[in-house]
Amino acid sequence: MLRFFFLVTTMLAATSAVTTMQEAQAIREIVKLLPDNNAVSPFSRTDVIGGIVRLAFHDAGTFDQAKPNESGRSDGCVDLNSADNAGLGRIINLLSPVVESNKEVMSRADVWALASAIAIKAALPNNEKIHIPIKYGRIDAVDATSACRETDFSKLPSAELSHQHTTTVFAERMGFTQTDITALMGAHTLGRADSKDSGYDGTWVRSSATFDNSYYNDIIRRPWNRETNNNGQHFWVDPNQDGTIMLNTDMALAFDIGDNDNVNSNNCRTRGRNNGYGGGGTRRNDCPSGNNADLVQQFADNQQLWYKDFSKAWIKLIELGYGFNKNETLTLPVGNEINIIIPTTNNVAGTPPSQRNNNDDDFILSGTTIRVTLSILCAVFFIMLITLTVYCCRRNSTKKVFQNSEDVVVKEVTVVNAPTPTEATAPNDQEMYAIVVSVPSNNCVDKNFE
Ligand code: HEM
Repeated sequence: MLRFFFLVTTMLAATSAVTTMQEAQAIREIVKLLPDNNAVSPFSRTDVIGGIVRLAFHDAGTFDQAKPNESGRSDGCVDLNSADNAGLGRIINLLSPVVESNKEVMSRADVWALASAIAIKAALPNNEKIHIPIKYGRIDAVDATSACRETDFSKLPSAELSHQHTTTVFAERMGFTQTDITALMGAHTLGRADSKDSGYDGTWVRSSATFDNSYYNDIIRRPWNRETNNNGQHFWVDPNQDGTIMLNTDMALAFDIGDNDNVNSNNCRTRGRNNGYGGGGTRRNDCPSGNNADLVQQFADNQQLWYKDFSKAWIKLIELGYGFNKNETLTLPVGNEINIIIPTTNNVAGTPPSQRNNNDDDFILSGTTIRVTLSILCAVFFIMLITLTVYCCRRNSTKKVFQNSEDVVVKEVTVVNAPTPTEATAPNDQEMYAIVVSVPSNNCVDKNFE
C-alpha cells in the first residue's frame, strides 16, 4: 500500500511540468553543494563533481533496449548491494536535501540528472559552454539504493575487459553508437578511482575537476604501461608515475589491447604522441591502433567537437527508457529561461587549460629529453670505452716489444744525432742510436717497430 502511494505521488510530481523558476531553485541548491577547489574534507571538489556524474551514469546505465519496460533506467535508484556502485551512497546522501526540498516538483531521478548537468557545467574551463538541457518527468523506484527496477548486478561495465565488452554494454544493450561511446568515456576526465570503492586508485587526468579533453590527449599523447595491483586488477600507468591511471576500457578506445579473453595477458604498451596513437604496432610490443582511435584523436584535437558529441550522448543516456509509454514522456521546463551563474572550477581556482596543456607538453618533452640525453651519454661512454681499449692495447704491445726481448731481432744499429719519428731509442745509452728491429706479427704493435 505504502509503495503504491509512493509511486502515485512520484508519478503525479513527474507528470506536472517543472517551471524554469523551480528548476532555478534546484540548481541554486545543487551549486551550494559543490566544494571549492581547496576543500578536502569530507569531500574534495573532484570527489563531488565526479561522484555526481558517476551516480547519474549508474542510475541510467542499467537500461536494456531489448526490455525497455522491465530493465533499469534513470529511476533514482542504484543498487548499493552491487560492488559496482560502491561509494555512491555518499553522493546519494549529499544530494538528499535537494531531493527532499524539491520533491513536490521533481523526482529523485530528475534531481540526480539535473545535478549531473550542473556538475559538468561547474567543471568547465573558463569561457567554455556546454548545452545540456534537462527534461523532467522521470519515475523513481521506491527507494534510492536497493529497490531498483532490475538489480544492477552485472549490468554496469567491467574495467577488466576490452572494447568488445564496452560495445556489448553500450552499443548492443543500450543502443549507443561508437561515437557516443567514445564521447561518453571522456567523463573520466572528472573524478577519480578510489581503492576503497573499486580497488583502482588514481585520477585519469591531472586536472580531475575540469571538464576538458585532456582525457583523450593523455590516452594518445602519453606513454602507458599496464600494471597489476595487489587485488590482481589491471590498470595502466604512465612510466613517469604521476598518480594518474587508465583502465583497460579507456585504453581500448584508441588501442587494440586484445579481446575479452586475452586482454590482460597482452603486454603491449604505448609510447605517447611521438609515435602516433598505438605506435602503429611498428615497434616491438607496441599496441596497434584500435577501432575508435580516429575518434579519440578528433576529440583530442577539438574540444568543441567533444562537447557537442558528449552532450548529445549524455542526454540520450539520462533519458534512456522514457518515451516508450505515452504517460512516461519527459518534458523541458516551462517558462522564460533563467540565467544562473555556476562558478566553474577555474573561477574557483585551478590552472587555465592553455597553461595546463603547456605543462603537459613540457612533461611529455621532459620524458623525451631524458631519453635523448641518456642516449647521448651512452654513445659518449661507448666512444670513450673504445678509445681506452685501443690505448691500453697499444701500451701493452709496446711493453711487450721491450719485455720479451727474445722475440725481437735486431737488424741494424746506427749512431745518430737525434731520433726521428720512425726510430725507437735505446734507453740507457749516452749516445743516440737508431735501432731497426723486426718483431712478431701482432695487430697491436706500433708500426714504428716493424
Ligand atoms: C567501460 C565503461 C566504464 C568503466 C569500466 C568504468 C569504470 C569506472 C571505475 C572502476 C571507476 C572508479 C570508481 C571508484 O573507485 O570510485 C569509475 C569512475 C568514474 N566513472 Fe566510469 N566507467 C565506465 C564508463 C563511464 C561512463 C560512460 C561515465 C559517464 C559518462 C563514467 C563516469 C565516471 C566518473 C565521473 C567517475 C569518477 C567517480 C568519482 O570521482 O567518484 N564512467 N568508472
